[in-house]
Amino acid sequence: MPNYTLIGPIRQLLTMRGLGAKGSLQDSQLEIITEAGIFLKDEKIHEIGSYWDIYPEAQSIGAKMETLQGDFVALPGFVDCHTHICFAGSRAKDFAMRNTGKSYLEIANSGGGIWDTLTQTRKASLEQLVKLTVKRANSHLTDGVTTTEVKSGYGLSVAEEIKMLQAIKQANSETAADLIPTCLAAHICPKDFESSAKEYLEIISNELFSILKSENLSNRIDAFIEDSAFSADDIAAYFHKAKDFGFDITVHADQFHVGGSAVAVAFGAISADHLESSTDKEIELLANSDTVAVALPGASIGLGMAFTPARKLLDAGASLAIASDWNPGSAPMGDLLMQASILGTFEKLSNAEVLAGITCRAAAALGLSDRGSIAVGKLADILLFQTSDYREITYHQGKLKPAMVFKRGVKI
Ligand code: NIG
Ligand code: FE
Repeated sequence: MPNYTLIGPIRQLLTMRGLGAKGSLQDSQLEIITEAGIFLKDEKIHEIGSYWDIYPEAQSIGAKMETLQGDFVALPGFVDCHTHICFAGSRAKDFAMRNTGKSYLEIANSGGGIWDTLTQTRKASLEQLVKLTVKRANSHLTDGVTTTEVKSGYGLSVAEEIKMLQAIKQANSETAADLIPTCLAAHICPKDFESSAKEYLEIISNELFSILKSENLSNRIDAFIEDSAFSADDIAAYFHKAKDFGFDITVHADQFHVGGSAVAVAFGAISADHLESSTDKEIELLANSDTVAVALPGASIGLGMAFTPARKLLDAGASLAIASDWNPGSAPMGDLLMQASILGTFEKLSNAEVLAGITCRAAAALGLSDRGSIAVGKLADILLFQTSDYREITYHQGKLKPAMVFKRGVKI
């Protein structure tokens, strides 16, 4: 017997459906159903519409009634399409050094930064990594993030990358949130690897790619293209091989120097993330592609750097998602809604653009068509904010959290 649930009445239901995949959006384009009901059948959305129209049917089949008292706004569960929440240790020391003048790249080049987290993460057991990842995923879930992408990339050897991806897989089974794993073995060239970056990537692709497939550890390959990490030339053979295996490609692109976005577009990457340094040339390139541009305001805030040129990207016609980049180095905060709201203020984004960036467009950045909007047949990932006006959500800059979160039809 299926489980039916009727949620409502909802003052404003923002479906986030029917919005274009690319380009700027206005608030007037948002579909808002007032006095709405969402009728769930198990983990999916069965029907949406006027609460009082759905009510008799729901009552006749004995549906569970989630009756709301007072004003609520419903949104689809948030999707955080770029995080590094599987890590051990802290980089508070780096953060303090950066705030007194050392740069991210200086710290990285002198053996701190990613390398420091790598040492802590390698030291941690699989069980410890699972625990830490579940804790962060659950805190995100309470804040309304029902789907979280999680990268490896602090292992940087075949065995240690497998350990991280196994930890992410196990964490996925221990949290109600959905975790989407990405292999970031191409984060930096590990210091303890004696030979060239190209040789490191060759070993990783030869030995790791088939295991990712056979053990169902990840369908996504990411690389950090940057002066201190990998060059476009280094990465070419690696990405060709990843494509031959059928992986989706995503790129840490144009964070400090340009170059990564061109590689992302050339390889038909599903997303190009960061883009803080992108110029008009890179913006044009992305706008003329199907690669989703992903802004990471948490990294800009954590590093005290410029934001991704989100307004220009949208005006040029690009698709824009917004993610937290939650990681111990550049983005320790891990509050997606707060970061997206702040980006909206600095980059002059409409509510529709901010909310699409963390729902439907973020789902597209992960290639997920079963979520990101509230529509019949989609997953019942639903947030209820206690307010009568959806504009209050970004207005409170992330402080107004969802009062209720449904993940796959289950109230958290
Ligand atoms: O997306 N830029 C590279 N990687 C991460 C930071 C990882 C770290 O500093 O630990 C990022 O910002
Ligand atoms: Fe990142």
